[in-house]
Amino acid sequence: MECSWKTVLLLVCASLGVQYTAIQTLRDSLSGPCQRAYRCRSRYHKYRWAALCDESWIPIELPQKHILLFTTTRSGSSFTGQLLNQHPGVFYVFEPLYHVQQAFTNSSSRLRRTLDRRALLGAYRDLLLNLYTCDLHFMENYIRPEPHEHITSSFFRRSSSHALCSPPVCLEGGAAAISDLPDEIWCPKKCGALNLTLASMSCNSKGHIAIKTVRIPEVGDLRTLTEDPRLDLKIIHLVRDPRAILASRITAFSDQFRAWKIWNATGRQPRYVELSQITSTCKDMVASARTGLQRPAWLRGRYMLVRYEDLALNPNVRATEIYSFLGLEMEERVRMWIVKNTKSNVSAPSEWNYKYSTTRDSRATAESWRLRLSFDIVRTIQDLCSDTLALLGYKQVHSAAELRNMSQSL
Ligand SMILES: *[C@@H]1O[C@H](CO)[C@@H](O)[C@H](O)[C@H]1NC(C)=O
Ligand SMILES: *[C@@H]1O[C@H](CO)[C@@H](O)[C@H](O)[C@H]1NC(C)=O
Ligand SMILES: *[C@@H]1O[C@H](CO)[C@@H](O)[C@H](O)[C@H]1NC(C)=O
Ligand SMILES: *[C@@H]1O[C@H](CO)[C@@H](O)[C@H](O)[C@H]1NC(C)=O
Ligand SMILES: *[C@@H]1O[C@H](CO)[C@@H](O)[C@H](O)[C@H]1NC(C)=O
Repeated sequence: MECSWKTVLLLVCASLGVQYTAIQTLRDSLSGPCQRAYRCRSRYHKYRWAALCDESWIPIELPQKHILLFTTTRSGSSFTGQLLNQHPGVFYVFEPLYHVQQAFTNSSSRLRRTLDRRALLGAYRDLLLNLYTCDLHFMENYIRPEPHEHITSSFFRRSSSHALCSPPVCLEGGAAAISDLPDEIWCPKKCGALNLTLASMSCNSKGHIAIKTVRIPEVGDLRTLTEDPRLDLKIIHLVRDPRAILASRITAFSDQFRAWKIWNATGRQPRYVELSQITSTCKDMVASARTGLQRPAWLRGRYMLVRYEDLALNPNVRATEIYSFLGLEMEERVRMWIVKNTKSNVSAPSEWNYKYSTTRDSRATAESWRLRLSFDIVRTIQDLCSDTLALLGYKQVHSAAELRNMSQSL
């Protein structure tokens, strides 16, 4: 009995040996009975053979949930991301794909010419997959300047990730990490450079990993990840009224949107105003929502559409729905964060209200764009994005009076 069991184990080990070569050369295509070995390997690095063939070896299934906050810039994703970041069992990463885009954009012009959309998306997916298996060293391919000895000071928005500001990654963050102060205030000063080996260890010690990205155009671009047997991917598709997105982008990225500002102030559309960005935002948003709502087999049970306005209006209820979709408990820390960050809080220090701040009256800001955009601009966006507005249930306005009349929600 025991003998035959050992034979089976031996066979399994032999087959893992064959698989190992495959992992090395083609880590993306691993499937079949050895899928757990991948995680074991990334966890046990040096001791992988001992770990895999040891009779006491048990498959390690962490992290269990792989969460993607899938959205576009200025859609309320900092706020929504915090709902995940505040959960003690979640390792949260704020837009890691920034580094991939930077690396490709800054590379030689010859490469740029040959680089197509497919190649960039492939690199994005590759990084996501490696992060979901807690291999943060994979980021070193893209971070500039190149990390030395797995240490970097250039990790994009590191302070937006609570796990990267707390022990074991940042021992100095111990006391501050459990205080009420936002990590952004103290983390850059206290935590120093980031040790990516420690970051990977922290990731492995958490039950779940959540990643926010604004750089994947359509949910269909994620199909190979939802179908990957190593992952249990859940996608939260966060959308927002495109008129609100535009108003927010004009304010936050004022250099890039100077022409829009002139249009808004003078009421005359400058010849050189750039309409293509908001148009493709709308096109991608509606394409993804359509795909998600059709419930294709590869996305079933893995997709949730969230309107930022609904979340802002009723953060507690909506956050509870999100957590139930994820199959996770909504921890006390998340609840507390919502209470502290969704009412206007006049006593909060003004330095919190920097560009990416989430501390504000979520209810009031959700529709404040209506007072900040000229009717002419609003009408143009409505024409460009009419099917997006219709599908997502946003009402169009037909006069300036209707636009400014806040007693009727759109
Ligand atoms: C890319 O180039 C720009 C302009 O030369 C520079 O400001 C930026 O830091 C570079 N980014 C990276 C990641 O090297
Ligand atoms: C980074 O952390 C690892 C794991 O604790 C450690 O072995 C390594 O020495 C650290 N690297 C540096 C440069 O401190
Ligand atoms: C407002 O912010 C202050 C400053 O951190 C905090 O102590 C207080 O609890 C907050 N008030 C509410 C109602 O959340
Ligand atoms: C547009 O113009 C109005 C009034 O002219 C101004 O109050 C508002 O702040 C402007 N909006 C933006 C986004 O600059
Ligand atoms: C604003 O809209 C409400 C509801 O449609 C309407 O009753 C009210 O007269 C409007 N106010 C103005 C100033 O147009």
